[in-house]
Amino acid sequence: MNKNITILGIESSCDDTSAAILRNDVLLSNRIANQDVHKEYGGVVPELASRAHQQNIIPVVDRVIRDSGIRKEEIDAVAFTRGPGLMGSLLVGTSFAKGFAMSRKIPLIEVNHLTGHVLALFIQEEKKKVNVPEFPFLCLLVSGGHTQILLVRDFLDMEIIGQTIDDAAGEAFDKCGKVIGLPYPAGPEVDRLAREGDPLRFKFNKPKISGLNYSFSGLKTSFLYYIRDELKKDEAFIRENKADLCASLQHTIVDILMAKLKKAFQETGIREIGIAGGVSANSGLKDALKKEAEASGWNIYIPKLIYTMDNAAMIGITGYYKYLKAEFAGLDIAPLARM
Ligand code: KG4
Ligand code: ZN
Repeated sequence: MNKNITILGIESSCDDTSAAILRNDVLLSNRIANQDVHKEYGGVVPELASRAHQQNIIPVVDRVIRDSGIRKEEIDAVAFTRGPGLMGSLLVGTSFAKGFAMSRKIPLIEVNHLTGHVLALFIQEEKKKVNVPEFPFLCLLVSGGHTQILLVRDFLDMEIIGQTIDDAAGEAFDKCGKVIGLPYPAGPEVDRLAREGDPLRFKFNKPKISGLNYSFSGLKTSFLYYIRDELKKDEAFIRENKADLCASLQHTIVDILMAKLKKAFQETGIREIGIAGGVSANSGLKDALKKEAEASGWNIYIPKLIYTMDNAAMIGITGYYKYLKAEFAGLDIAPLARM
């Protein structure tokens, strides 16, 4: 009979070094080492990210194996993020995974970071059964680099049915947040400040774009110009209106995201709906999704906060499903910045 499969997952696509251990679809341990070095630059500096990954990766993996309570010899395969991401960052995880697989003589599994975000919805926990979507389901994948609506037919069978033609939703949060002086990444801070503000106080441009695609660059420009004009009249404008600005910005982004998700539901008739990626942590988005679920009879799936951001648990679970299909990579595999 099929024995338990133990997977080591490695994620290093951007500025978080993460490792995780899963036994089948159950997460045993997950560690994320954040990189504070980027804060003062207002964005991720690729060269610094790569160097920090090199410093972090061995301690993080070592720690996650100890946390899991398993022995290194029990690991059946190592899954790593092949892309998309920053080349210098991806190289560190890829090289580590290859070395680990080679020295232990176990299979290597390449994972698309975006597939990982979606499959994060399937991570089970030791103590509690997690409710997971049924196939087929729709997934709104919203992160710092991507905004997509996916039609997910099976674990490893998904189709992009809508996506952004310019900026990602997370970028809209981050860039607009930067305009009003919030530190990078601004998304979580906008979310926090929005709780005390009026979401209907300011109106910003919404895109008029056909089909299920998104666009966020117009909103960014409209936000920037509005702030610039108001500052000319009153230099304290940002300081005095920060919460309302955040609430109105968040309200606009969430409205844009939800409109196309509703359209996808109308077109496909699929009521199983999940969200994933860093922006799926947003409280405004989660509230809007819950409201729509009640109104339209959707079954919704929201990942736990820790699985919304970049993490290796999502790479490990994808690795597990690829292991079951014997989808292994050769040791000559190279990372891809774009996939
Ligand atoms: O998925 P992720 O961790 O990394 C990428 O693959 O891009 O997403 C990071 C993005 C950033 O843009 C960050 O500002 C945004 O997710 N984010 C949020 C929130 N938490 C993270 N945006 C809005 N509200 C949040 N609570
Ligand atoms: Zn991500």
